Amino acid sequence: MTPATRPHYKTWIRTRPIVVFATLAVASLILAALAFRNALFLAFVIPAAIFGYILVIVGLSRWRFSAAGGDYQRRIHRLLVDRVSGSSVLDIGCGSGHLMAEIARAHPAAQLVGLDFWGSNWEYSQELCERNFRAEGFAGRGTFVRGTASNLPPDLGMFDTVVSCLTFHEVRDVEDKTTSLREAVQRVAPGGRFAFIDLFDAPQFYPHPDRVAASITECGGEIIEDVRLAELLALPFPLQHRRVLGYARLIAGVRVAH
Ligand SMILES: C[S@@+](CC[C@H](N)C(=O)[O-])C[C@H]1O[C@@H](n2cnc3c(N)ncnc32)[C@H](O)[C@@H]1O
Repeated sequence: MTPATRPHYKTWIRTRPIVVFATLAVASLILAALAFRNALFLAFVIPAAIFGYILVIVGLSRWRFSAAGGDYQRRIHRLLVDRVSGSSVLDIGCGSGHLMAEIARAHPAAQLVGLDFWGSNWEYSQELCERNFRAEGFAGRGTFVRGTASNLPPDLGMFDTVVSCLTFHEVRDVEDKTTSLREAVQRVAPGGRFAFIDLFDAPQFYPHPDRVAASITECGGEIIEDVRLAELLALPFPLQHRRVLGYARLIAGVRVAH
């Protein structure tokens, strides 16, 4: 496979924050050096330390998620792949199509639909997903649809399994992040499965923790697993940091009713 025909997946850490924090850290360091022995020294060295620390967290996380750094993005996706059953699968917030490709590989009979908003603040696109699926040899087994998780297209249909990874908290067009959770559960066919990973323990996204489980059960979902990600997978530094995956949980179950 040549580089042009190889799939290109991206990690969850975008290039932009790395560039921004590196620039801020270096600029503060230079200013601190210029202000050495001057009253302004501390005013520059403290931000340099803070930006440097953030840069370490963000940069190391990106490395950990990549194949070279332990392949944690793939390992986390595998947790969802293992919970897929049936022959039709919806991935909400499919990004660059990596989770869908892993599902297609592990479940050869499955037909998949990936939905994403593909906003300009992410480095993913529908075209990238389609190119990756073709490169993987899965053309014809996947459809990619642009839409928002908070209001799924009415004609999307129902699925044997609905998965979503680290997407609901990113949905900006609704304040209440459980709106997308409800939409997702409602697309599970009766008897079908759902498996979601998101920052369900993060108070800034889910200020009422009991509403997460309630949203699922009110839509006919029965929760079978509700586990902190760190209990399913040993997360090395800095992935267990609260700003990375410290607040992540996996919630999975079955839809028992309409
Ligand atoms: C952290 S990435 C996760 C991507 C993918 N699920 C994965 O695991 O590789 C968050 C994803 O949420 C998507 N997203 C953000 N807002 C969305 C919305 N309103 N509806 C659907 N997807 C959205 C982004 O485009 C991005 O692909």
